Parts: sequence; structure tokens; C-alpha cells
Amino acid sequence: MALKKELRFQITVYEDLNELAPKDQALMLQAVSARKNAYAPYSNFRVGAAVSLANAEIVIGSNQENASYPSGLCAERVAIFHAGAKFPNVSVNTVAITAASDNYEVTSPAAPCGNCRQAMYEYEFKQKQPIRLLLMGETGSIIECSSVDDILPLGFNSSFL
Ligand code: THU
Repeated sequence: MALKKELRFQITVYEDLNELAPKDQALMLQAVSARKNAYAPYSNFRVGAAVSLANAEIVIGSNQENASYPSGLCAERVAIFHAGAKFPNVSVNTVAITAASDNYEVTSPAAPCGNCRQAMYEYEFKQKQPIRLLLMGETGSIIECSSVDDILPLGFNSSFL
């Protein structure tokens, strides 16, 4: 007989940066600073990401657009690939992500796109340890997710291959 299953996950919502633990605040500030190097002449939407690693290193990324639009890349993938390239066998603990626009104030937490969720999930599955996410706009509340798996349920991974 068919079985109905409910998938649930919890997030923590912080009112602002000051509510975060000092290490998380510092990581998010690195993402804010990375955001300033976004190359976003087409969307004017700037995203910064900071990856904190098990060896205490922090690796950053920002979105890099292209006149041929699909050739550009989101901040999260620039950052996670940068981490994979620089420290191939070091686990990722947390990714802090922040988004801002030149056209309006982004007050809602950044939402990683589907491709970035998949890209981060690859590393989470490989390291067998959850990657925590901290999501922020330019101002306003911050969402903490305990794992990429939570925001990419029923994800595709190497076990299928
Ligand atoms: N973008 C990111 O960098 N991360 C996201 O999570 C969503 C979107 C970028 C891609 C593009 O350069 C611009 O934001 C507008 O989509």
C-alpha cells in the first residue's frame, strides 16, 4: 500500500547579525566583503559567500556574470569550488551567504538557487558531514539551516551512479 511520508526540517531565524555567535558574525562579514567584489553589471544583484573549513581557513566567492548570461556563475559555486580547488580534502563546516542589489534594499535572506544547492550537496555527501548554511540579505534577519540536504530533499548524489 502507498505510504505517505512527511519530510520536515527546522531552521533558526536570527533577528540580525548581532544575534549570531562571534565566529558566525565574522564569517558573514567576510561574505559581505566578498559581495563587494561581485561582477554583476547585468543583474546589479550582488552575492557574496564565505566558506569556513575544518582547518580554520575561510575561502570566499562572489557572483561573476558574463555577457553570455549562462556563462556566469553564482557566488556559492565560485566559493565552494574555490574551497574544493584550494583545500581538496578538508571538510566544509559552514557557508555564509549574503545578497544585495544596486536597485533596492534586500531585506530577505538570500536563497541559494537549485544549481548551487546541488553543487554544495555534492561536497556534503562526499564529506559525510552536514554543511551548515547562514543566509542573509543586505539587512534583516538571518536564517540558519543545519544542512544542504534539508533544502535539497531527495537530492541526487553519487550513490545513484
Ligand atoms: N546569484 C547568486 O550568486 N547566488 C544565488 O543564490 C542567486 C543568484 C547571482 C547569479 C546572477 O549573477 C545574479 O545573482 C542574478 O541572478
